[in-house]
This record gives sequence, C-alpha cells and structure tokens, in this order.
Amino acid sequence: MRIVITGGAGFLGRQLAERIAGAGEIVLDGRARSVSDLVLFDAVAAPRVVTGDIADRSQARAVIGEGTDLVFHLAAVVSGEAEADFDLGMRVNLDGTRAVLEACRAAPRPPRLVFASSIAVFGGDVPPVITDATPLTPQTSYGIQKAAGELLVADYSRKGFVDGRSVRLPTIVVRPGKPNKAASTFASSIIREPLAGTEVPCPVGPETRMWMLSPRRAVDGLLHAAALPADAWPPARAVSLPGIEVGIGEMVAALGRVAGPGPVGRISWQPDPAIQRIVAGWPYRFEPRRALAMGFVPDPDIDAIIRAHIDDQLDGRFAA
Ligand SMILES: NC(=O)c1ccc[n+]([C@@H]2O[C@H](COP(=O)([O-])OP(=O)(O)OC[C@H]3O[C@@H](n4cnc5c(N)ncnc54)[C@H](O)[C@@H]3O)[C@@H](O)[C@H]2O)c1
Repeated sequence: MRIVITGGAGFLGRQLAERIAGAGEIVLDGRARSVSDLVLFDAVAAPRVVTGDIADRSQARAVIGEGTDLVFHLAAVVSGEAEADFDLGMRVNLDGTRAVLEACRAAPRPPRLVFASSIAVFGGDVPPVITDATPLTPQTSYGIQKAAGELLVADYSRKGFVDGRSVRLPTIVVRPGKPNKAASTFASSIIREPLAGTEVPCPVGPETRMWMLSPRRAVDGLLHAAALPADAWPPARAVSLPGIEVGIGEMVAALGRVAGPGPVGRISWQPDPAIQRIVAGWPYRFEPRRALAMGFVPDPDIDAIIRAHIDDQLDGRFAA
C-alpha cells in the first residue's frame, strides 16, 4: 500500500502519520494491508516531509503519482486565515482539492481519497439540531471552500475517477503546540496553557457551546473513513463526524475535576466581541445518525478528552 497524506506536517497529518507508521498496516474493507510507502506532503519543510504546493497541479500529480492506493487530503489553510486572505484560501482549499482530485483521476487505478471537511459547511440560520438532511449553508470563505470540496469529491466519485469520502470534523480539542489562526483556537488554549502552568484569557463566556472531538478520535475517524467499503457511503460521500456538545463553562469545570483547582485558576474571562460573534454562528448540536450507524465513534465526555491530552501529549504530567 502506498499512502499519501497532504498536510502531512500539520497537526492532524502528523498524528495520523504516526498512527499509520506505528501500526505498519491499515485496514481497508475489513482486511489489514501492510503499508510499504507512507508519503507526507506539505508546504512547510519538516523531517520526512516532501515539501511543495498542493495547489500546483504538476506537484500534486507528482506526489500522488501512479501507484498510490490511498490519499488523506488534509492540506488546507484554516478558517481565520482563509477569511483574512481570500485568494490564499481559494487557492489552497479549493484549487488544492481540485488538484488532488485531478491527480487521482490521472492515476491508472482510482485511489481511495479521504477529504477533511469541516462543520463550517453549516452556519447562519441553521435548525436547532443539524441532521444528515440539513443543507450546507456555509457563511465563511473557508466553509464555502470545504462545501465545494465535498461536492467535487462526490462528483469525481460518481464518475469513477476516485473513491472519495468526506468527513466533517468538529472542532478538534485539545490541539497541542501554539495557538493557530483558527477562531476556535481558544478552545484548546484554555486547557493546554493552564496545564503547562501558563495564564490564559478566555475570549468567550462560559455559556458558549461547541461541537468537539479529540485528536485521538479524529484520527480514528479518518482511518475509519478510509476503512469503510465504497457502498457504505451515501451518494453525497460525506458525513458529519459524531462529536460531543460542550459548554465552555463545562470545559473549565472538567479541567478542575481532572487536574484540580490550580490550572482552573490560570484562566481569566476576557470576552472578545469579535471572537464571540464568530463562535456564536457555529452550530454545536448535531444528530449524526448516519455516521454513528457507519461505526464512527465520539469521545465519551469532555473529561475523557482532557485526560487523553494529558496522556498523549504530556506523558501524564502537568502543572498542578
Ligand atoms: N483541527 C480542527 O479543529 C479541524 C476542524 C475541522 C476541519 N479541519 C480540517 O482538517 C485538516 C487538518 O487540520 P489541522 O488542524 O491538522 O490543520 P494544520 O493547519 O495543522 O495542517 C494543515 C497543513 O496544510 C499545510 N498546507 C497549507 N497550504 C498548503 C499547500 N499549498 N500545499 C501543501 N500543504 C499546505 C500546512 O502547512 C499545514 O501543515 C484541514 O483540512 C482542516 O481544514 C480541522
């Protein structure tokens, strides 16, 4: 099996690559297959990463090449950046996805493709609960680019050019490392920074609610999306992954339960109207029946998400 991960130097790309490399095999259609070649492609230089621009069709074609069996297309610019730089977002998130699809189409054997979409395809005047039948109503350039990507994945699959699958990821919490340009970055910062002994402002109120998934379960979801046979997918080839609905106040309370009062004391409530306005437009309540029936699994609760961060990223140690 030859596997390509675009965005392979990014947060989820690295975690996915580590999981696949650690297992040495991947399950597709119920059968474990050994991985002979795992190629990471990204705009940033990093060890074991092929550096390039996914929106450049010749580069996309060169990296996907002829013998690729499976592509995880994670390369993207995140929400805040795509909103701030319209041309960059369109180029990477839309033209880049088209370049990946065209590279798959050019291969003699259509590869399987997992596309990382986002719940940002929903927004604005959404029903109180997002179901499998809720129309896509993106309200940002990033959401529009992800929705367009999903439609392209469905059409290239319908034509038999690729065996595509799109998974709409909830907000992934807790993201390790530094804050990024996503408007949701605070949801990770308010757990990560206090556990590292650092003071952190929270720009939204405790009543704010979000739809979340841990990195561990997000990687599980990407792998499960690859594993399922083509006929397990609806014609639209897209599902919203099951997450959990969590209030920011509940997150802070969970941090106290898991790590004690010290870390909680490092969080200060400092509302930022601009962030509050963006986050208020995001859907946080889903009924992902189809994904659950397909075998995708959410985290049990926010306490488990915080514990997973402490185990996976901090080797069990944190600043009390
Ligand atoms: N993390 C989340 O909360 C979340 C939620 C919903 C969807 N997603 C989607 O999941 C995917 C992975 O997210 P992430 O959190 O790992 O993001 P990330 O920003 O950490 O990783 C994306 C990677 O894409 C690379 N990239 C950007 N432009 C490129 C280009 N022109 N050519 C090649 N590579 C390029 C970046 O260098 C980066 O390493 C993205 O598609 C993102 O939109 C993430």
